[in-house]
Amino acid sequence: MLASGEGSNLQALLDTVHGREAEIVAVAGDRQGARALVRAREAGVAARAFPRDRYADRAARDAAMAAWVAERGAELVVLAGYMQILGPAFLDRFRERTINVHPSLLPAFPGLDAVGQALEHGVKVAGVTVHLVDDGVDTGPILRQAAVDVPDGADRDVLMGLLRPLEHRLLPEAVRDAARARATGSAV
Ligand code: GRF
Repeated sequence: MLASGEGSNLQALLDTVHGREAEIVAVAGDRQGARALVRAREAGVAARAFPRDRYADRAARDAAMAAWVAERGAELVVLAGYMQILGPAFLDRFRERTINVHPSLLPAFPGLDAVGQALEHGVKVAGVTVHLVDDGVDTGPILRQAAVDVPDGADRDVLMGLLRPLEHRLLPEAVRDAARARATGSAV
């Protein structure tokens, strides 16, 4: 798993699928001291930061991170709050095996501040997407989506508060789907 922020999606996976349908074997991020890494260690999961300034360039960092994650035996990579672009040095190793959770109904509002973008646009329905990661920004095939009505006057905090539970439901569902697919030899 790659996570650099609060780690609430990591926590949702730890509380649901971990030790059951799937094992979280490692959590990597780009920020030393991120709450996500602390949560991982508290759950006995290997956690390591790969700060960009420790490597010659992004490709070197991505390659080191991919090698570390692969060495821990990861078969699926989950991105949740990993706010850096992942290049081919990482993705080539986990192609078709990397999923991301994004707080919008893709293809609407890809990239940074999806919730702000949606509010700015005045959407009446918002949502969450779990998708396969390809070389674009939030462009890969959609695996799961869920939607919620946007209350009148909602701000970022209100809308994010409505989207969080959707993320925490959809991501474990997608990981379960992937584990099942692997067991039966089909695609994610
Ligand atoms: C989530 O909103 C996710 O959709 C986005 O980054 C956030 C991560 O939150 N990609 P957390 O660190 O899992 O709490």
